[in-house]
Amino acid sequence: MCKNKTNRSLFHETKLANINVKNRLVRSATWENMTTADGHLTKDLYNIYEDLSKNEVGLIITGYGNIVKEEQPNPGMMGIYDDSFIDEYKKLTNMVHRYGSKIIMQLAYGGTKTKFNVGERIIYAPSEVPERSTNVLGKAMTKEEIDYIVNAFAEAGKRVKDAGFDGVEIHGAHTYLINQFLSPYYNKRTDSYGGSLENRMRFLIEIYYKMREKVGKDFPIFVKLTATEFFEGGLTFEETKLICKKLESIGIDGIEISGNIHGKAKSMVGQSFDGYELKEEGYFLEYAKIISNIVNIPIITVGGFKDFDNMEKIFNETNIAYFGLSRPLLAEPNLIKRWKAGDKKPAKCVRCSKCRTPEGNYCTIFNNKRRV
Ligand SMILES: Cc1cc2nc3c(=O)[nH]c(=O)nc-3n(C[C@H](O)[C@H](O)[C@H](O)COP(=O)(O)O)c2cc1C
Repeated sequence: MCKNKTNRSLFHETKLANINVKNRLVRSATWENMTTADGHLTKDLYNIYEDLSKNEVGLIITGYGNIVKEEQPNPGMMGIYDDSFIDEYKKLTNMVHRYGSKIIMQLAYGGTKTKFNVGERIIYAPSEVPERSTNVLGKAMTKEEIDYIVNAFAEAGKRVKDAGFDGVEIHGAHTYLINQFLSPYYNKRTDSYGGSLENRMRFLIEIYYKMREKVGKDFPIFVKLTATEFFEGGLTFEETKLICKKLESIGIDGIEISGNIHGKAKSMVGQSFDGYELKEEGYFLEYAKIISNIVNIPIITVGGFKDFDNMEKIFNETNIAYFGLSRPLLAEPNLIKRWKAGDKKPAKCVRCSKCRTPEGNYCTIFNNKRRV
């Protein structure tokens, strides 16, 4: 591993799948809670994406977009559930491209990890297992419902392409529906979607193939995954490694390695799970490192990064290709421009996770004027 990798800069232009990106720094998906009630873009959102792109973010991943109208795990999330969204996203992608940044859209079906309008809508799950943090029980999906959601992901992927995005990310992490299918804790099915890991992966793989059919062979498709579920009986890192190998073999263009615990990861730093320790600077770094050594597609590591020099060191010493940042860019939207200009002080973000508010998600400590 790590051949000829000394003194590479995070600021050299590079290619992620077929996307020319100006640096290795990615704005990881961040739900802003600033759309209209039905998921349409607002002036605030255009402002946020303008601010990110004019401040040197190489690749922006949007907040999670809902793929069917009736399923919304949180308020204010971007919609992509019908064609009425295409024109407004074209305006967004054109704007981001004018500033030289690239942008991909994240697609999600939330499921039972929600407290939003529970009881007013049907919420799908692989099986009737209450979600551990919300205690919400979903409806175990029939084969017809699985096909419906697989198709909805694929149709949304096509809209993402039609709107001029540079790629799409399937949200397979954070205990949302796809993650629950992968998880032996949440997936108790006895049909071909449950039981063995091969069966538990089937839902995600069908989504990928159907989407690939709709977007063509050259449109980049990424997946965000949970490294391990961090509880007894959940998805293990050994299984995640096998999932990554499988995703590579079917044509996924890159994988973002996350966890389902980022809100509380700070308090878990130093603890070991599945043999690897959660790091202060890059919570899931140890897992991402291992995965970057066993697949030949780009790995994005995300969670807890604040220190530019440390990221550049990791970049030079490992096979990790990209670094995701969410909260640091809420605290300082100009962070990457500042680093590029030579001020390499770590991000101000104190990882407090107080950035979710009913009026929108913004840094309540360092950027509390909220608007850019
Ligand atoms: C306000 C907020 C909204 C988020 N929304 C999403 C999202 O829509 N999709 C997603 O995959 N992760 C989401 N995340 C998680 C981030 O992408 C990231 O994985 C996590 O915050 C850890 O990175 P950080 O330490 O750089 O913040 C969100 C995080 C925050 C703080």
